[in-house]
Amino acid sequence: MKTICLTFLIFLINAFIYGSDNLQDYYIVIHLYYALITLSGRYDNRLGQFLMLGITTTINFIYLAFVYNWVHFTASVMIYPFISLCILQTLQKLKKTETEVKKQFLRADQDNQDLERRIRDISTLFDVSASANSAHDLKNFFQQVIKVLATRMGLYQAHLNIYNKDRPNQYLEAVFGLTKAETRDRKQIDVIQEQVLKYGRPIGVPHRWMRKDDENFPFADSVVSKTPIAFWCLPLIVDEEVVGTLAIDKGSDEFSTEDELRILTVVASIMAQRVKIQQVIDSLVQSERLATLGKMATTVAHEVRNPLGGIRGAAQLLQSEENFDANGRDYIDVILKEVDRLNRVIEQLLTFGKSKAENFELCNLKSLVFDALKVCDPQLKQHQIEVKQNYQQYLPEIKVNPEAIEQILLNLFRNAIESIENDGTLTINATFDLKQAAIKLRIEDTGRGINPEITHKLFDPFYTTKPKGTGLGLAISRQMVEDHNGTIEVDVTSPKGTAFLITIPI
Ligand SMILES: Nc1ncnc2c1ncn2[C@@H]1O[C@H](COP(=O)(O)OP(=O)(O)O)[C@@H](O)[C@H]1O
Ligand SMILES: [Mg+2]
Repeated sequence: MKTICLTFLIFLINAFIYGSDNLQDYYIVIHLYYALITLSGRYDNRLGQFLMLGITTTINFIYLAFVYNWVHFTASVMIYPFISLCILQTLQKLKKTETEVKKQFLRADQDNQDLERRIRDISTLFDVSASANSAHDLKNFFQQVIKVLATRMGLYQAHLNIYNKDRPNQYLEAVFGLTKAETRDRKQIDVIQEQVLKYGRPIGVPHRWMRKDDENFPFADSVVSKTPIAFWCLPLIVDEEVVGTLAIDKGSDEFSTEDELRILTVVASIMAQRVKIQQVIDSLVQSERLATLGKMATTVAHEVRNPLGGIRGAAQLLQSEENFDANGRDYIDVILKEVDRLNRVIEQLLTFGKSKAENFELCNLKSLVFDALKVCDPQLKQHQIEVKQNYQQYLPEIKVNPEAIEQILLNLFRNAIESIENDGTLTINATFDLKQAAIKLRIEDTGRGINPEITHKLFDPFYTTKPKGTGLGLAISRQMVEDHNGTIEVDVTSPKGTAFLITIPI
């Protein structure tokens, strides 16, 4: 377009020159017109410039050939075009240099941005690892890490799910700048977390996916690099074992997808190490606790059991005395009941000291359950609890300590009865898992259920929610199951009530 305009202008000037006889005019205009050609150097491509210079020089040549003025001829057809050509060449070179400089500037800018990004990444990771060292427990660590990510990556919701083979999952959640109502649906997050746990690969969910009821979310390595991700879920892996998942719900799209994945992968690996360390600390503390408890139990048993025996005997004697009124008898009953309760606590405490990893014999699970149910029969009847039992047809016998298994069953049945209070069902299911070569026993009640937030504490010694509870039943049961190389877990997803699942290898 510019070439056409300039050519048109030059033709106008040519027409003017040829129309005028005045040589003075001719000189003024010829200056102008070579200036125009030079000007074209700023705008036109090379071909356009040479074409224009060529046409103009040819027209001048033809015109001046008729005029026969050698001075004019030399000036207009040789000197001016030569100067114009030189100027055009120089302009061209300048243009080239300008483009080069621009390119270099852009490159420097890009390098600068890269550097800034790296510094940001490094300081993010520095802050995360600093929190790993300074945090006093996992919850505190998680909160600190998420705060770092919230400020640097603009995320607004994060979930840490820690899986432990022999303990219930620990679930931590951190929310920033959102009300409870705005937070994402837990069910959808659970589905994604399950997938990550199963395959041990990160998942990146683009914005548009989160609105669908889709269950097949894309793995991060298949996400197109330009797609902004709304939700990340990464596995926490230590020694090729997935110990948990980290889910991040994002706010801004300031980071590129690759950058995010890179940082989050390192964050997840720092987290995984911290989780593993915490698990080792926990299990050390736990075994230390149990050992102390065992020692204490023996002392308590000796110191308290004998006087308790005396109190019980005296109370029984008083009961047979006749000069007590009804009120007095009630008091004696209270003494007897409470003494019995104390005895039970001591009995339970004592079991901590003794390992049950001995006296193993081949037993039939069905008859062990039958014996334990017989002990609980009066309470089951009193609270109108129906018992349902389902056994797989060919259950193999298991090599266990029958006393220990009975104790475990009693603890679980008592908890179920206490939870149901009145009118409910206790269901016992036993199956044989061929793949694991283990017996699976599921004890389910229709009681009041368990708040998922306390599941990780249930098996701790002395953890109880009951005013008169000891908090020892589940702790002891777990120790005994572990003596059999088995596992016990609570299943809070049970639609109504609670279910405990015991796995014992045969
Ligand atoms: N079947 C159940 N239903 C509801 N809550 C249960 C059940 N079993 C255990 N719990 C919870 O676990 C806690 C610990 O149980 P346990 O170790 O047996 O101690 P305790 O029965 O003395 O409280 C209980 O206080 C209760 O909150
Ligand atoms: Mg109990």
